[in-house]
Amino acid sequence: MNQLVLTKGVLVTGDNALDYLKNIAYTKAVIVTGGSSMERTGVLDRIKKLMDKKDGRISIFCGISKNPTSAQVIEGTEFLKKEKPDVVLAVGGGSAIDAAKVMVLFYEYPELNFNNVFSQNLDSRVLKTLLVAVPSTSGTASEVTHVSVITIEDTQFKVAIKTENIRPDIAILDGNLPMTLPENIAAETGMDALTHALEAYINKGGNDFTDALAKSAIEGIMEWLPISCESGSLESRNKVHNFQCMAGMAFCNSGLGMVHGVSHAFGGKYDLAHGLANAVILPYSMDYNKKDPKVLEKYEKLSAALGGDVIGKVKALKKTLGIAGAICETGVSEADFLRDFELLVDHSMKGSTVVNPITVSREDMARFVKCVYYGVPVDF
Ligand SMILES: [Fe+2]
Repeated sequence: MNQLVLTKGVLVTGDNALDYLKNIAYTKAVIVTGGSSMERTGVLDRIKKLMDKKDGRISIFCGISKNPTSAQVIEGTEFLKKEKPDVVLAVGGGSAIDAAKVMVLFYEYPELNFNNVFSQNLDSRVLKTLLVAVPSTSGTASEVTHVSVITIEDTQFKVAIKTENIRPDIAILDGNLPMTLPENIAAETGMDALTHALEAYINKGGNDFTDALAKSAIEGIMEWLPISCESGSLESRNKVHNFQCMAGMAFCNSGLGMVHGVSHAFGGKYDLAHGLANAVILPYSMDYNKKDPKVLEKYEKLSAALGGDVIGKVKALKKTLGIAGAICETGVSEADFLRDFELLVDHSMKGSTVVNPITVSREDMARFVKCVYYGVPVDF
């Protein structure tokens, strides 16, 4: 039996999707956002105008970083307790949406915290606050997923909190928002989305529905991401925005794989951007996973659809987008890598690596982690 959830409530897409915000009733709304880009580009002003109501008040919680931390979530939860919103809008990158999901959970269930959240039954904790997600980047698809990834500061490890209850009620995909993305962020977040689609497509938890979503997303992102990065046209940004959402619908119903396991290990330790870490690691994982006959069959289907070897095309796309070839090119020093090596391998074995189509031994993981750090081809 396969039970699929594609969105919790409404998915709004197309021209001026943001106008949907006029329909939202509230007495107190809190906007959760990242740095200053949403304010600087006028997005927050536009949202405030669209939602303006005589009896409604809107306040803003900002400062969520690219890898949202437990401390930021705790601070944001206190803000929500003070403001008592009935609507929370997460506006910005996936990090703002991920943080808002857990903030609302902790706000409504104050007995929850980062010490006990993994041992509690979260599925019984229904949320009354309306959670609206408005992504400005095109990568995580956090607007439609039941997952939030937070870096626990004490351990410098990224953890995923998963429950149906944190899936946003309303997801708004407005192609005008990613128009503000710099080229490198568009490239890295787009590669995150491609990773979601490729990992979902070969995951053993997949089915006809997730395969269709993942395959469409792979084809769409491979076609439109280079155009989106080069021209930044509205059409191309809109396309990538939609395809990344399809990739999210696929992976949260089938599962991911070792790219995300390894990327969370490096990202948590060195504050590497999630999209960049995934983009670096993705082709190495494809070379590793292709020895599984079922994965190879799937890659052959993709190669036929794309008109050439899919692994070669992913490697070429990475180059076209100017993505680093290995982790050693991303600013992580060799001294740090060697000092942290055993910990990185331990962390890489966790998370989505557990559902990789090939079970990864610790010995293989140690070799794999060295390959992605130094840029050595995977031939084992
Ligand atoms: Fe991701």
